[in-house]
Amino acid sequence: MRPHLGFIHEFVPGTSKRTLLLLHGTGGNEHDLISLGHELDSNAALLSPRGKILENGMSRFFRRLAEGIFDLEDLKKRTNELADFVVAEAKHYKLAADQVVAVGYSNGANIAASMLLLRPETPRAAILFRAMVPLVPDKLPDLSSVRVWIGGGSNDPIIPISETNRLAEILRNAGADVTVRYFPAGHELTPADVEIAREWLMTLE
Ligand code: MLT
Repeated sequence: MRPHLGFIHEFVPGTSKRTLLLLHGTGGNEHDLISLGHELDSNAALLSPRGKILENGMSRFFRRLAEGIFDLEDLKKRTNELADFVVAEAKHYKLAADQVVAVGYSNGANIAASMLLLRPETPRAAILFRAMVPLVPDKLPDLSSVRVWIGGGSNDPIIPISETNRLAEILRNAGADVTVRYFPAGHELTPADVEIAREWLMTLE
């Protein structure tokens, strides 16, 4: 761990220019999504930080006041910290800074969406499993060169379909090329999510 940015993280070198930025869900850690990263793209480098917030002993990437109600000031601060971390680690590990694809699940998908909206220069694409609208920025960024894939669960008890559609609409209004897929699932990630997201990732040049 390099102290100035303070994210405990796991890094796996790759054999292509792409880096997957892996962002775990509430209660996860930096190891959780490594095998998912390999499944999505076995050639990509993997950069997997651990969220710094502890909620009843569970790691998260930003504070929430209740389920689905976010502490927006903390979210903005943590989004900037994470984006700065990605920029610094890209230099440190000699990664192509313009080839970072954010891959987040649940709380990790929410901070990835927040990065797209607040720090659009950081990821060039994103895979968001079970994401919500993290915040609505005062001014929409220009995401016209960004591609986003969103996977929702049609029976997700935490995230209604309307919320996923609202996120897709905000990203589209910012110019992003957004693909949304729903799976017959709840909040949990399914093998079908991973397979369809992998196929989509292969279409990114
Ligand atoms: C979670 O449990 O992580 C929530 O569904 C999403 C969040 O709080 O960001």
